[in-house]
Amino acid sequence: MPFSTTGQELAQWRSRAIRSTQGQDIDPREVDWLLQELTNLTALALRLESFGDQPEIVLKISLEDLEQRWQKRLEDRSPLQYLAGSTPWRNLNLQVAPGVLIPRPETEILIDLAITATQDNPELARGNWVDLGTGSGAIAIALAQGLPEITIHAVDESPEALAIAQANITKYNYAHRINLHQGSWWSPLEFLQGQVQGMISNPPYIPTSLIAQLQPEVTNHEPHLALDGGTDGLDDLRHLVNTAPDYLQSGGFWLVETMAGQPEAVVQLLQAQGSYRDILTFADFAGVERFVQARKC
Ligand SMILES: C[S@@+](CC[C@H](N)C(=O)[O-])C[C@H]1O[C@@H](n2cnc3c(N)ncnc32)[C@H](O)[C@@H]1O
Repeated sequence: MPFSTTGQELAQWRSRAIRSTQGQDIDPREVDWLLQELTNLTALALRLESFGDQPEIVLKISLEDLEQRWQKRLEDRSPLQYLAGSTPWRNLNLQVAPGVLIPRPETEILIDLAITATQDNPELARGNWVDLGTGSGAIAIALAQGLPEITIHAVDESPEALAIAQANITKYNYAHRINLHQGSWWSPLEFLQGQVQGMISNPPYIPTSLIAQLQPEVTNHEPHLALDGGTDGLDDLRHLVNTAPDYLQSGGFWLVETMAGQPEAVVQLLQAQGSYRDILTFADFAGVERFVQARKC
């Protein structure tokens, strides 16, 4: 149910919220980002403060609720995206909530790498693809958009994540092309052995000992199931290297995101496994190697 307030009231709330960031490790621009997600005001209208005279501004939540959420930002360092209930990612606006990882901008690169691979190898552009550890469903939905002839099987161990993924898949009308499965990595996909054209995964890859040192928004609020990659951070990447050959077709595509510093180890794991060819690494927006792709022999 939408709520409304006057432009003047909202302008006053915005000024107070911006002032409240002083002396805090919080960017004052977050106030406008939150208002963009929760009202129909544009970034320009907010920046020019041109809405103060409007008799009515429609909000997705009440002004009291907005204030309570902002206090959670200040006091608990709750991520802004959880407070808004949504995040932009590629051309999507995805629902997010505690219990699901907030999709990160660099993960968008996985989609571009996958689409490029299908342009170079058109046989990859149809058939079964899997998104292992789908979280909010971001990768699965973007793949469905970018590769109109594939069917996607998206897996997650977390029921909370799958519920959010389901909502996002329904929002973008891909329920007929994306099948959700609960379970650990490939285990719900036994029926696809030898029949998968492409595997994409952004698995947990942070070494356990580093998790407590991340920003409080991450350590205290994002699900550790989505972050914790075991002692060296490579537990799940190692598992995906070793298990994927049973599922990929000959020539099938394998692509993962890793943490900075991990691609070299993943390349060595792929080489040692012996079932992969054309192993390549790619950098993120900052020029840091973060992605590893390969083809099954
Ligand atoms: C880094 S998050 C990635 C989420 C999403 N794909 C994205 O890029 O935003 C890793 C995901 O893997 C899931 N996960 C962790 N262990 C898993 C397992 N054993 N089997 C399946 N999914 C798992 C987590 O619940 C989480 O959603």
